[in-house]
Amino acid sequence: MAKCKFADAFKEEREKSGIGKMDDQGDPVVMLLNHKDVRKAAHNYKVFSSEAVPGRIVVPSEVNIRTTRQIPFEVDPPMHKEYRSLLEAWFKRPLQNTYKEKLTTIISTVLDDVLSKDKVDVVSDLALVIQSRALTLLLNVPFDKSVKWISWGTHVFRSEGEALDGDKAAILYNYIDEEIDNAIANPTDNLYSTLLAAEVNGKKLTKEEVKGVLILTFAGGRDTVINALTNMMSYFSANKKALDYIRSKPEIIKTAVEEFIRYFSPLTHMGRVVTEDTTVCEHAVKADSRISLCWASANRDEKVFENPDEVILERKVNPHVGFGFSHHNCLGATHARQIMRITLKLLAEKVSDITVLEAEENIENLGEFTRKVGYNSLKATFKKR
Ligand code: HEM
Repeated sequence: MAKCKFADAFKEEREKSGIGKMDDQGDPVVMLLNHKDVRKAAHNYKVFSSEAVPGRIVVPSEVNIRTTRQIPFEVDPPMHKEYRSLLEAWFKRPLQNTYKEKLTTIISTVLDDVLSKDKVDVVSDLALVIQSRALTLLLNVPFDKSVKWISWGTHVFRSEGEALDGDKAAILYNYIDEEIDNAIANPTDNLYSTLLAAEVNGKKLTKEEVKGVLILTFAGGRDTVINALTNMMSYFSANKKALDYIRSKPEIIKTAVEEFIRYFSPLTHMGRVVTEDTTVCEHAVKADSRISLCWASANRDEKVFENPDEVILERKVNPHVGFGFSHHNCLGATHARQIMRITLKLLAEKVSDITVLEAEENIENLGEFTRKVGYNSLKATFKKR
């Protein structure tokens, strides 16, 4: 298959030193670039902790705009396991047939709408709409809640490489506060009510804990899914035969989706706080400093992946870390995978061609590196089959 332009920003440094360095609002971050080192550090929560001041493991840091701890993301074992056990079953609901059927209807409707227009912006008219409407299923809330989420636009909690905007973040935090209060007043069977009724270690979850889960569910599943969907569309514009190929071999949809997640790595990296003086790749790191696990670099590691810069739709062995690794691996991955798989299936059935007309790339500035993670806007035409 032809190459698509999502360059590996980290290749040179990964091969030379295995680490990269960046500054985040005056707080330096040492980025781990090798697949092996990323997996090892992700596993070693005692030295590379997720449980720092809320917001600090996120890069760019959210410490100035958030006091609520995101759960289970900013909690280390053993407490992490307690929260995960509580959430696991809920986040596996996307495997149910009724969920898949509803998701198929949502995605099919969006694609039909896109096909009825001369030109669309893939980011705002397709990816944001699918992501928001699909989230109503994951939260088990009425479909029309998505109208407000879509109206927030794609930039609502987006960092654009800079420190996050507190006013924008407050839109989400206030919204979640209101929804929690609604669920307290009128309990139902949505995620808010389910969490409010749940217990961890014999104690009911507090409002603050419920808010911590919801912030993560809204924010963690937004840009990641939007980037994954948009980048997949740009790939089909650059590789004209790929959609026909997938239509002729639908059995490769699962491996194709894993390959897109590896290749695009919608979440570039995630931080950890070092708990004791140690070394990474022979580089000293001090207690209370930050490292990051660079999923995007690990996913192009030539020691692990053959022809890492090529999209190989049928790649057989694909131990990518696009959804993370070890304890904190992505809780939303089942939902995200279903969105990607169903979109790909319907795209192959319904669409004969995607042509990008104008692209505004979303470039992350990471100290010595710049990386394309997706698009701010991607104007394209979609042709019916
Ligand atoms: C964790 C990527 C979609 C919720 C993670 C992590 C990665 C990741 C790399 C690990 C973070 C770490 O180790 O610190 C992605 C990608 C997605 C995606 C690439 C889409 C293509 C979603 C969605 C949701 C979600 C749709 C929910 C709506 C979470 C949660 C965690 C997480 C709750 C934390 C799990 C824990 O700490 O135990 N994700 N994510 N993600 N993600 Fe996702």
